[in-house]
Amino acid sequence: PRKIIIDTDPGQDDAAAIMLALGSPELDILGITTVAGNVPLARTSCNARIILEFCSRTDVKVYAGADRPIARPLVTAEHVHGKTGLDGPELHEPQMPLEARHAVDFIIETLRREPAGTVTLCTLGPLTNIATALEKAPDIAGRVRELVMMGGGFFEGGNITPAAEFNIYVDPEAAAAVFKSGIPIVMMPLDVTHKVLTLKSRVASLREIGSRPAKALVEMLDFFERFDVEKYGSDGGPLHDPTVIAYLLKPELFSGRDCNVEIETTSPLTVGMTVVDWWQVTGRKHNARVMKDVDADGFFALLAERVGRL
Ligand code: BDR
Ligand code: CA
Repeated sequence: PRKIIIDTDPGQDDAAAIMLALGSPELDILGITTVAGNVPLARTSCNARIILEFCSRTDVKVYAGADRPIARPLVTAEHVHGKTGLDGPELHEPQMPLEARHAVDFIIETLRREPAGTVTLCTLGPLTNIATALEKAPDIAGRVRELVMMGGGFFEGGNITPAAEFNIYVDPEAAAAVFKSGIPIVMMPLDVTHKVLTLKSRVASLREIGSRPAKALVEMLDFFERFDVEKYGSDGGPLHDPTVIAYLLKPELFSGRDCNVEIETTSPLTVGMTVVDWWQVTGRKHNARVMKDVDADGFFALLAERVGRL
């Protein structure tokens, strides 16, 4: 199986991503690292463990990471995810412990221990942990097989400001460091995730499963879509983060192209913007494979099949 580390700020859609990974034998989850984002770090670290307990997978370890962005105060998104970050199902106090090791050290040690080019980083939140690890141990950049991220937007614009997507906006300095690192990057922007809408017909097969994890997930999604349905008037909300995991399982569901991507870190108007050279007009070096389109029905079929195995 392909070795992955999931770096996350759960988040209902992060939960969907984690469940998709847990239900997929092609993936070996070496650890889950948490970061401050949708809600503060203490809460994302709690939520990651609650998700694992919903799935009876307490064998997967959780490492807490950065509690704030590199150079800015933390911006959170309770307006989207609710007070807990995981609103929807009834939430319990997690029983499984948080690991003592810091997420950044876990990431560095794992990349140095495993053979070079075998570990994939899946990032579902702000890139603070990854950028901090790169700063502390620049040698790890050359050891990462691939970094697949949910982040950014180009034709679609932003979701936290007109220009910026939330994960990049929260820690643009971290994102800039990651895009400069030379790590092979695959980017799942809003251009993809806004097509992955939780339409009733698509969620129906998840609803039919009826297991504890599936029920919890459906309750999360019912809560999560409220914000977007009200705001954008769409039938269903976008399911951002599981596209990262789906890409590892079935890359043929997605299409995009290699581009140069730069991150705006100074302009107050557009800070956190991902400037994607989709039309190749700058001649700047490609540093990411940027996805734009997705087979959304194929994605939901995969999600239901894998959650059904939990
Ligand atoms: C991203 O921001 C968070 O609110 C979601 O979990 C997702 O990672 C979407 O912009
Ligand atoms: Ca997230």
